[in-house]
Amino acid sequence: MGVHVLVPLIFSFSLLLQRGLCEGVTKKQELALLPPRGWNSYDSFDWVINEADFLQNAEIVSKSLLSHGYEYVVVDYLWYRRRVKNAGPDSEGLDVIDEWGRLIPDPQRWHSSRGGKGFKEVAKKVHDLGLKFGIHVMRGISVQAYNANTPILDPIKGGAFEKSGRIWRARDIGMTDRRCKWMQHGFMSINTDSAAGRAFLRSLYQQYAEWGVDFVKNDCVFGDDLDIKEIRTVSEVLKELDRPIVYSLSPGTIVTPDMAKQVHALVNMYRITGDDWDKWEDVRYHFNIARDVAAANLIGAEGLNGKSWPDMDMLPLGWLTDPGMSRGPHRKCNLNPAEKRTQITLWSMAKSPLMYGGDLRKIDEATLKLITNPTILEIDHFSQNNTEISDIISRKDIGSSNHVSSHSRSLKDENSPGKHVLTLTSCMDHEAKGWVIGTNDKELGQICWKNGLESEDQSPFCLDKREPLLTSHEESIQYQGKFHLLGMNTMELCLETSTNRKLTSSDLEISSLVPCKKNTNQIWELNHNGTLVNSYSGLCAKKERQKAIVNDAEARAWIAIGRKGKIYVALFNLCTEEAMIYAKIKDLADALGLGFSSCVGTEIWSGQDIKPTEQLLSVAVGRHDCALLVLTCN
Ligand SMILES: *[C@@H]1O[C@H](CO)[C@@H](O)[C@H](O)[C@H]1NC(C)=O
Ligand SMILES: *[C@@H]1O[C@H](CO)[C@@H](O)[C@H](O)[C@H]1NC(C)=O
Repeated sequence: MGVHVLVPLIFSFSLLLQRGLCEGVTKKQELALLPPRGWNSYDSFDWVINEADFLQNAEIVSKSLLSHGYEYVVVDYLWYRRRVKNAGPDSEGLDVIDEWGRLIPDPQRWHSSRGGKGFKEVAKKVHDLGLKFGIHVMRGISVQAYNANTPILDPIKGGAFEKSGRIWRARDIGMTDRRCKWMQHGFMSINTDSAAGRAFLRSLYQQYAEWGVDFVKNDCVFGDDLDIKEIRTVSEVLKELDRPIVYSLSPGTIVTPDMAKQVHALVNMYRITGDDWDKWEDVRYHFNIARDVAAANLIGAEGLNGKSWPDMDMLPLGWLTDPGMSRGPHRKCNLNPAEKRTQITLWSMAKSPLMYGGDLRKIDEATLKLITNPTILEIDHFSQNNTEISDIISRKDIGSSNHVSSHSRSLKDENSPGKHVLTLTSCMDHEAKGWVIGTNDKELGQICWKNGLESEDQSPFCLDKREPLLTSHEESIQYQGKFHLLGMNTMELCLETSTNRKLTSSDLEISSLVPCKKNTNQIWELNHNGTLVNSYSGLCAKKERQKAIVNDAEARAWIAIGRKGKIYVALFNLCTEEAMIYAKIKDLADALGLGFSSCVGTEIWSGQDIKPTEQLLSVAVGRHDCALLVLTCN
């Protein structure tokens, strides 16, 4: 698999050749012509990965996954942070920087970086394995460089950047009012309107190219953190560099097709959701945005020096860690087999990049089979006209006497009173103001929602608050003013969020209340203006009536055309009952603008034959499961 247009070595050679021959008319290697695939360290190592763990995973990618098109191995965030006692994702002053304020790998964790070598040796080993090397970087400049007020390197002339008769420094470009909101002590935006700010960014990316980096995941610049000027500047720098580098944006909380349209041509992939973890609600959350970007023709649209792909995030399968806990892999994935199938089927029908997140040293046989399933990989790379078609299917619970509903939209709960949800929104959203300190007879104190919009007869919605259990002085500084929120009447369970999910409040869903841990997605802080911010996502909680869930149909379907004229139909059952899902052959044909009237084929997860069908296709699909039909139609 993996269509390598030109390998890098040949590339630089041909570039020279072409330069000579055609006087500057160069043909660059085209990037991301297919949705990129690979492995990323975040879901299994949070930030604490070291060189040995990384290279061991890379070797397994090379041995077992490369032949299936998985070619990038990516070190996720904070590779420059010293792993000392109590170091966490938002610690201040623990990063390793060079004299120009650029981050360099922590030499304790990345031994080969010593002596100013950065990631050169790691990249070389990765290249020798036949793979490509990626790193994660944050927005702008580190707080550490800002505080040290390091001079800026002039990446063109070398030496310190001088303009108007003076040397420019970190404090001339850092914007303290534009810190990354979920890493306030880590990073801030820089002023890209100043030549010094642009020089700083160029000095970073030039260094990554010198290290041999092939892929950059740029975090805290997209979605709710959008910094379009930085994205544009980095994209321009990458365009001018000789080394082809895939440019990926993260995270994708509150991304809309409109926002995607602003960036797709500047990058090669961009997240369309917040972080995805191994929870059913997280899997389910991807359906609407995937449908919307497909409908907006953003899948495989023009990108930086090639194409661009809406990215549904890594696959948190196999052997994992927990978000924000600063520890390595220690537990199995919580999705059941049906939910895993649904996840990878949706990812492939929407042609998402596939980045495996589990520790490959402990991958189980079933997971390996799933992520190397040839049909899934074929669809993900080579299908066309991918689109959601939920409006033309219908479903019926198996065992219920309901008639087949005319379509799948579920209106259940729509107007039921008292159904409220906590949702996460930007802290700048005025509707998120409404949290106050409540009083109760316990000493703990409460946080209550009272924004004046509630009706009189409703009792206020409150959560008990408790200081996180701290073990050291450093932690008490880091967590000052922050707290856990406990579900009422449960001393043991804390409100937790990954950025994707809605938290049902009046009847707090059991899945949102989990055993209390010192995990940043369980840590909250009340701002003076009455917003309640979550430390992991930097987003604020607001309480609202659950919207009519017309977009939340219980059955979903996607369709696509294969390379050899095969028709792929994926039927997803998002509800908790097994169901029959039906689609008329004519409606499928119409959805693709084709004229077929009869189909035959196979359901790939069960291996069962789909007998020749002329009118109504009907398939039984289990709870949270999906059917993936490969059909020949005429
Ligand atoms: C399917 O995709 C091809 C290639 O992108 C395009 O030319 C064609 O118009 C699409 N067909 C439909 C029905 O959208
Ligand atoms: C509330 O305060 C926080 C922290 O100071 C700020 O980031 C946010 O924008 C404010 N939100 C509103 C709606 O005023």
